[in-house]
Amino acid sequence: MELPTRPTLFDFHGVSMTKYFTDNWENIQNFEARPDDILIVSYPKSGTTWVCYMLDLLYFGNMGPEHRTSIPLHERVPFLEICAPPRPKGKDLADQLTTSPRLIKTHLPVQFVPKSFWEQNCRVVYVARNPKDNVVSYYHFGHMNGQHPEPGDWNTFLQKFMEEKMVFGSWYKHVNGWWEKKQAYSKLHYMFYEDLSENTGREIDQLCSFLGLSPSAEEKEKVRATVMFDNMKQDKMVNFSTIQEMNQDVFPFMRKGQVADWKNHFTVAQNKRFDEDYKQKMKNSTLRFRTEL
Ligand code: A3P
Repeated sequence: MELPTRPTLFDFHGVSMTKYFTDNWENIQNFEARPDDILIVSYPKSGTTWVCYMLDLLYFGNMGPEHRTSIPLHERVPFLEICAPPRPKGKDLADQLTTSPRLIKTHLPVQFVPKSFWEQNCRVVYVARNPKDNVVSYYHFGHMNGQHPEPGDWNTFLQKFMEEKMVFGSWYKHVNGWWEKKQAYSKLHYMFYEDLSENTGREIDQLCSFLGLSPSAEEKEKVRATVMFDNMKQDKMVNFSTIQEMNQDVFPFMRKGQVADWKNHFTVAQNKRFDEDYKQKMKNSTLRFRTEL
């Protein structure tokens, strides 16, 4: 398969995007959600795959081993807006899902979500990660994933993050936009990567109560153990090793999986600049992030 060229970033209705996420726009906007669809949402690199796998196991963990050993997670939980031929479009994969409920992943900012999800009153699970670890993870991802614009060096990338010139736009607007939505839309569960990292079992309990699921203690423990970083890193169906555009020799998709790895990347000066800018951008927000545990 021919590898795609790195795309350029452009302004799309006020949000920086690339063609891989806008080329199928009209079809995406006309997506027909069903009432039991569950939308898993995040800014890229917030722990999306982790949460997708948790939901997949909670709903379909008992389906038999073939489900987990032969179908990659990105097909079990399609990425709605992706359009990168010759791979199937995410929207088409979602349409073809035979599972009930259908689990669907998106990185869209709240204003871009197809309206049928709101009309059908679908459940939404949002996961957010502190911006310092988020940008570090995104930087490494940009290097290993040829479907993203050239990330440049670390300082340049960090600057672009602060300028909100990233694929899927501003981290600040994304996390706040969805946080505000949560205040008005009761079927939205807002999670944090740091909480997951601190106590995965507690977060699974909360997820189950939001989803109206009541697995046994044994089943929950099985999910908790299966989604541990080291297990997911080894699992070819969840670690994206089946995707050629991702060069895992540059950096593995399952890279570190830690809170506070930013301390290994930010200089003292970068940290100061980032904190000052953060304070300004988040001054009207009630969202609080932990940058260490
Ligand atoms: P790092 O690059 O910091 O390691 P996404 O799925 O949204 O693209 O997020 C990917 C990030 O989540 C990566 O972060 C990845 O290692 C981390 N991640 C994925 N599964 C995880 C798990 N089970 N435990 C901890 N971190 C996980």
